Amino acid sequence: MADTPMRIGSVELPSPFAVAPMAGMTDSAFRRLVKRHGGCGLVVTEMVSSEGLVRGIDRTLEYAEYTEEERPVSIQIFGRDPEKMAAAAQIVEGMGADIVDVNMGCPVPKIAKHNAGCSLMREPEHAAAVIGAMAKAVKIPVTVKMRAGWNEHERNAPTLAKMVQDAGASAIAVHGRTAAQSYSGSADWDLVAAIADAIDIPVFGSGDCVEPEQIVAKLRAGVEGVLVGRGVLRNPWILAQAQDLAAGRPAREVTPEQRGRFLLDYIELLQHERVDDARATSHDKWVINKLRALATYYTKGLENGSHLRTAINTVQTLDGLRELIVDHFHASTTISG
Ligand SMILES: Cc1cc2nc3c(=O)[nH]c(=O)nc-3n(C[C@H](O)[C@H](O)[C@H](O)COP(=O)(O)O)c2cc1C
Repeated sequence: MADTPMRIGSVELPSPFAVAPMAGMTDSAFRRLVKRHGGCGLVVTEMVSSEGLVRGIDRTLEYAEYTEEERPVSIQIFGRDPEKMAAAAQIVEGMGADIVDVNMGCPVPKIAKHNAGCSLMREPEHAAAVIGAMAKAVKIPVTVKMRAGWNEHERNAPTLAKMVQDAGASAIAVHGRTAAQSYSGSADWDLVAAIADAIDIPVFGSGDCVEPEQIVAKLRAGVEGVLVGRGVLRNPWILAQAQDLAAGRPAREVTPEQRGRFLLDYIELLQHERVDDARATSHDKWVINKLRALATYYTKGLENGSHLRTAINTVQTLDGLRELIVDHFHASTTISG
């Protein structure tokens, strides 16, 4: 691993490993906790609508919120209109974010049908114009997250990467699948490494790193950074463990109590998030739903994980949720300890 710190424009990253943007998952509370566990060089918010930012919609602004301890932080926006995207970038800059990232990877029809997200990859010149307009409008670095392409016949990430670099992007991230693949098959890291080799700005690779060893291997195979998505949801220590390995140390071990504590801390932080009077009564439900979403990933590979997942999916109160987490992870400690 290079000894010089990684940079995106003028922003220095303390590590080349980052939390990938994940809608519905990587809220500020989750990002803070991952950051506290170490090894995390950059966090990216859930994707935020440029339209919503420009119109000042409360819900959109909530998605873009972050706390100081998350820095450096990148706010990811989606949209397709160059002027609106430039205006949204200025809002992001005004919010104090370190980086503004553009979503050119989302395959979800709700986004793609507005010709935003990954469908922008089908109009590379327009996509480059969006980046050009944004780069002119702000001083903070503008970055792009893309896929390998739209489908197997349109794997144009190498061309688009060069085009957005020339338009003013300071870094890119490539998830090595096409939109048509969604999450099936596997990410093509050879393609990602070839792009990193061909362009001058830093390239993050993304896809399928679920063990810390894989993160380090990808870095050594030729990208400047690695964005980890689902692997962080399964194991929030994965970036710290990758950093251990990259420094030649054994990866730190995580005890069942620590895994239980993470969930309890997440509940605690969420209880203070997005609280407003109008939604007070449903806030507990919102926290429970957040835990259910995380549990889908977090319980994978855990001892009795499917049992815990089912229990979290049926519990109705926050007290009940806390209790079953305490029971589960204490029980595991006794068995394995
Ligand atoms: C639940 C979920 C939500 C996601 N939301 C976003 C998003 O808002 N913006 C984005 O660029 N990518 C999004 N992604 C893609 C991830 O950032 C990442 O590129 C992809 O999951 C591959 O990496 P992984 O195998 O490490 O998860 C999402 C992925 C998942 C699983």
